[in-house]
Amino acid sequence: MTLPRYQQLAQTLRRQIDAHVWLPGEKLPSLRESCKQSGLSLMTVLQAYQLLESQGTLVSRPQSGYYVAPSRPLRLEHGSLHTAEQIDVNDAIFDILKAGQDSDIVPFGSAFPDPTLFPQPKLARSLASAVRRMSPHSAIANLPPGNEDLRRSIAQRYALQGVEVTPDEIVITSGAMESLGLSLQVLTQPGDWVAIESPAFYGVLQGIERRKLKAVTIPMDMEQGIDLAALEQAMATYPIKACWLMSAFQNPQGCTMNPDKKRQLVDILIRNQVALIEDDVYAELYFNGDRPNPLKMSSYRQEILHCSSFSKCLAPGFRVGWVAAGNYASRIQRLQLMSTLSASVPVQLALADFLHQGSYDAHLRRLRRQLELRQNAMRSAVLNSFPPGTRLSKPTGGYFIWVELPGKMDATKIYQQALAKRISVAPGTMFAVDNRFSHCLRLNTSFEWNTRAENAVKTLSELVYKEYNRHR
Ligand SMILES: Cc1ncc(COP(=O)(O)O)c(C=O)c1O
Repeated sequence: MTLPRYQQLAQTLRRQIDAHVWLPGEKLPSLRESCKQSGLSLMTVLQAYQLLESQGTLVSRPQSGYYVAPSRPLRLEHGSLHTAEQIDVNDAIFDILKAGQDSDIVPFGSAFPDPTLFPQPKLARSLASAVRRMSPHSAIANLPPGNEDLRRSIAQRYALQGVEVTPDEIVITSGAMESLGLSLQVLTQPGDWVAIESPAFYGVLQGIERRKLKAVTIPMDMEQGIDLAALEQAMATYPIKACWLMSAFQNPQGCTMNPDKKRQLVDILIRNQVALIEDDVYAELYFNGDRPNPLKMSSYRQEILHCSSFSKCLAPGFRVGWVAAGNYASRIQRLQLMSTLSASVPVQLALADFLHQGSYDAHLRRLRRQLELRQNAMRSAVLNSFPPGTRLSKPTGGYFIWVELPGKMDATKIYQQALAKRISVAPGTMFAVDNRFSHCLRLNTSFEWNTRAENAVKTLSELVYKEYNRHR
């Protein structure tokens, strides 16, 4: 698809501004000069300048001309697309994560699954056996891309699902966090634009902040998922280098893309030649039917960096993840060699050993059943006790529910009041660069449904009702 000329010119000017050819506050060439230089009509150049003005990139001064906007903070565009040229969320997120760490706190705000759901004794045996059998050379033998047995076991699981991934394109990492970070690093340079979901997992916002990238946020709906028209528009408007999203059990809203949406999304990526970072850490936690097919299953798979880990489904503390990196595998390996060197060798060997034992699928079946039961129990309790107008997601996997409180309620206040009563929740502000989700909460449903949990939901609903009545 070719962009209209005024949009092409707007993109060129925006790239120049991003590259500091034109500095904040500096005057751009006059319309007449720009026509002469570009060979475009006055109307086309005017439209391009006006588009950049409407996006907050330029300001016009009567009788003087167009200037680069002095500072370029968060902007609202086209009603749905938002951009952030500087993301600074870390302090707030660290405070919230730390606040939920005490073991006497009811951990509805936690990102971690209930640790009692995992086969600890079997994992311990695999770890002990791996350490016993470790050869003195194993540290070198397991440098990037990582332990071969483990990579082959992971490739076999892809193969069983019909996803073409070879062991050679898999790089073992320290959790999905490292695989996502390396993927972002391989696809972007500081200052580049990345399309992300809104709301998004806070690790996305942290990754973008750390790498000094600019973000275009694409609206999500907890039932419909990502807004593809907005994504298409973002690609037409900004020089986007990478797209980062989740196709299954999105964190925080929980939705899963249907096959049609996945096809359309891949078409958009192909048309715009944009690579995708697919975060798929919850994919094994589906409640019914089969594992959702990842976008990696498409013909565009070499340009899709599929990131996952064992942190949510088998061994939370082991910190082992991977990326199936397609065309980018050797560059990812080099970046890893320059940063963390490799994932811990004994835990890689332990997981390879565990996967060979053959009890992984039985564990997953039990885990999925438990998670579904626990989600049902907590969802019903919230539905029955929160004020009318509350919207609740109904994910078909994973262990989060997203709660949209009615009206203009302040979920951060509820988070603070709940914490004083030793209950943690994840306020919506953790998942965005602005306050758009300040009336939302994410709740972790993986913990045992018992009297303590029931009472905690009751306390939460009392706090929510107090706030609700204040707003009526
Ligand atoms: C969506 C998402 N991606 C990635 C991660 C990080 O995974 P890992 O613990 O394997 O680094 C998390 C953890 O909360 C997550 O929720």
